[in-house]
Amino acid sequence: MKQSMLFCLFLAVLGSAEDPVRPYPLPDAHLETTSILDHSSYLAGFDDVQWYLDNIPFIDVPDQQLQDVYYYRASVIKRHLKYVHESHGFIFTEFIHPVSWASKFQTIPDSAGHHILESRWLRDTNYAKDLILAYTRGGTEALSGISYTHYVQRAILEHAQATGDAAFLTAQLSGMIASFNLWDIQLDNTTGLYHRTPLSDAQEYSLPGYLVGGPNGGPVQQWNDAANDYSTIFLGPETYRPSHNAYMIANARAIAEVARIAGNASLAQQWSTRAATLEQRMRDLLWDDELQFWIDVIYGTNTPAVGRQLIGYFPFRFDVFASVSNASSPSAAEVRGLEAGLSADGEGFLTEFGPTTLEQRNPYYTALKNSTYCCVWNGQSWPFSTGVYLGTLARIARANMSELVTKEFWGSEFEKYVRTNYLDGVPYTAESHYPTVDMWSGDHAK
Ligand SMILES: *[C@@H]1O[C@H](CO)[C@@H](O)[C@H](O)[C@H]1NC(C)=O
Ligand SMILES: *[C@@H]1O[C@H](CO)[C@@H](O)[C@H](O)[C@H]1NC(C)=O
Ligand SMILES: *[C@@H]1O[C@H](CO)[C@@H](O)[C@H](O)[C@H]1NC(C)=O
Ligand SMILES: *[C@@H]1O[C@H](CO)[C@@H](O)[C@H](O)[C@H]1NC(C)=O
Ligand SMILES: *[C@@H]1O[C@H](CO)[C@@H](O)[C@H](O)[C@H]1NC(C)=O
Repeated sequence: MKQSMLFCLFLAVLGSAEDPVRPYPLPDAHLETTSILDHSSYLAGFDDVQWYLDNIPFIDVPDQQLQDVYYYRASVIKRHLKYVHESHGFIFTEFIHPVSWASKFQTIPDSAGHHILESRWLRDTNYAKDLILAYTRGGTEALSGISYTHYVQRAILEHAQATGDAAFLTAQLSGMIASFNLWDIQLDNTTGLYHRTPLSDAQEYSLPGYLVGGPNGGPVQQWNDAANDYSTIFLGPETYRPSHNAYMIANARAIAEVARIAGNASLAQQWSTRAATLEQRMRDLLWDDELQFWIDVIYGTNTPAVGRQLIGYFPFRFDVFASVSNASSPSAAEVRGLEAGLSADGEGFLTEFGPTTLEQRNPYYTALKNSTYCCVWNGQSWPFSTGVYLGTLARIARANMSELVTKEFWGSEFEKYVRTNYLDGVPYTAESHYPTVDMWSGDHAK
């Protein structure tokens, strides 16, 4: 997961494109053409400078590290942009070096939504469109069946909100529906929720695996116990997850919105109802009243995986709320629950290079990894998750719903994120970072 929210957070106010059909308001036209900064001055040492001049939005900020990381991350986008071949055009890869678990052309569904969101700010809108088409034409997922959970449909809508290209958007409608329906096989009709292993939600070695990977399907008690089921600890059990179900709600709502823009009111209604039903089921099963937090529930036994994981912050980013009475905003209880993981007592998610992926007070939290395996999501700081988390914090701060999660708080978490994107004093990003030590803990490029 080599890319980050950094792009979205800044380019949201700057980027645009020249398409004529705009279902959403955009900034004044003069913002698209006025150039105040000397663009070339930010690109010293970059290859193919003209590409950046042609494509990226430029920023100048007082914080030198933030500025350096911003331009570095722009180069990360470019490094992952690969021309595949005629008629498929471009794709964004998740990993620089090909990996066996990727889908066609080395795209990977879990990060594809994120890649669409970042690349929608490039002036040449065809890069993101090529990636979108890889999913809506069915070539990527249908070839190998579903793989990782994703929010591609939601990202397609957010892409159009940046470009204003309603014609392209509505042309994706049937492909968006087909991709969504591939997930029917993971929908449990008794709970009405989607289930997936944590591994296939891109979070192996996480809390649910530790809770059922011990002797006789119980909790892990000792790491070196021969009676542990190491495969279950790694994969995790089939689980109803707040991340995955929030993605599906957001995806269904995106389909409803595209159907509405396409002028098909009955189809829009059908998908709104589907989203609302799923959201209600998610509240019924995955909201923990005591923690006031979204939790995992293990499929089959419906055992709650009690404990705060960073994925509990994800639903809010996708406008999925715990509030039953007012679906357009979160409940006060939800905000209190999100705040509870953010206390400065060293027990929640906050660390110098965090957030952690599992709360530090959890018995299965580990700050240091015991293996050379890249991805251990019972604590390690993960830029991909941090991006979603920062999106949630930004929403709370903008809504002015919390005395803790203010713009200043967001700023301090964002600064940590900037500082995390370094190696030996130069901007750098990899998969997993020690939450308490200035060092990457998992790096596929090495
Ligand atoms: C759930 O129900 C639908 C029809 O109501 C059916 O098509 C689908 O196969 C069922 N899913 C599972 C996993 O049983
Ligand atoms: C709306 O979509 C449905 C399902 O694809 C289709 O059967 C119907 O003809 C569409 N209606 C309109 C007005 O386009
Ligand atoms: C829902 O919440 C919003 C934002 O707090 C508020 O403006 C609106 O009045 C609420 N609606 C209802 C029906 O409570
Ligand atoms: C990691 O290793 C340390 C030291 O050997 C041990 O105390 C800890 O329980 C281990 N944790 C895990 C999750 O393996
Ligand atoms: C935010 O909320 C606080 C407390 O409710 C209020 O005093 C303040 O005026 C609000 N700020 C904005 C910008 O709405």
